[in-house]
Amino acid sequence: MILSKNISKSTGSVFSGKNLIAHGTIVVRNEGLSVLSLGNTLKATMSFEKERDYQRCRARIEALCEGSDDQIAKMASIVGVLHNEMNDFFWTGFYRVVEGRLVIGPYQGTVGCLSIEIGKGVCGKAAARGKTQVVEDVHDFPGHIACDERSKSEIVVPVTDESGALIAILDVDSLEKGAFDEIDRECLEGIVAHILGGR
Ligand code: SME
Repeated sequence: MILSKNISKSTGSVFSGKNLIAHGTIVVRNEGLSVLSLGNTLKATMSFEKERDYQRCRARIEALCEGSDDQIAKMASIVGVLHNEMNDFFWTGFYRVVEGRLVIGPYQGTVGCLSIEIGKGVCGKAAARGKTQVVEDVHDFPGHIACDERSKSEIVVPVTDESGALIAILDVDSLEKGAFDEIDRECLEGIVAHILGGR
C-alpha cells in the first residue's frame, strides 16, 4: 500500500543473513525501513532461536560428558556450556545436597552464597517442593536470597539421581526481568535428567 510518495506499507519479513528476525507490518520510507506491530511473530521467532540454542548446548554437553560417571565433572561441563552459550545467563550454577543443606557446587558468574537451607529462597523452595521454580521478578518472590543484587529473574530446577533422590538444584539468574519461561524449564529439566539422572 502506498501511503505517500516516499512511504509505503505492507506485511513482510526482515532477515539478518538467512535468519528471520521479524515479521509484521513493514513501513518503507525513502530514508530506510522500519517494522511495526511485530507482536506474536517476533516472540515465536525468539522462542524458536532459544530452543535451537538449547539443542546445540545439549549436544555439546552430551559429547563432553560421554563416558563420565563423575557427577561434579558433569555439573561443571553443563554450567560451562550453558553459561557461555545461552543468552541472558548472568549466573549459572549448581547447589548440591550435602548433609541436608544446599552447598555451592560448580558455577560461573559472580560469587554465589556458600550454602542455603532447604525451604529458604528460590533454591531452597525448589528443593523442598521437588518442582522447578520460574521467577519472573525476584523482588516479588518472598524470601528470595540476593547473592548479587543485579539479578532480576531466576529459574531453579531440582536434580534427582537414577533412584529419584534429590542430589542438587540448577540455578540460573538473569539481569532481565522475565527471562525464563516454559522453554527454559523443559530444556533445562531435560538436560539435567539426561546427564545427571541417567534418563
Ligand atoms: N537467589 C537464590 C540464591 C542463589 S543465588 O542467586 C546464586 C535464591 O533465592 O535461592
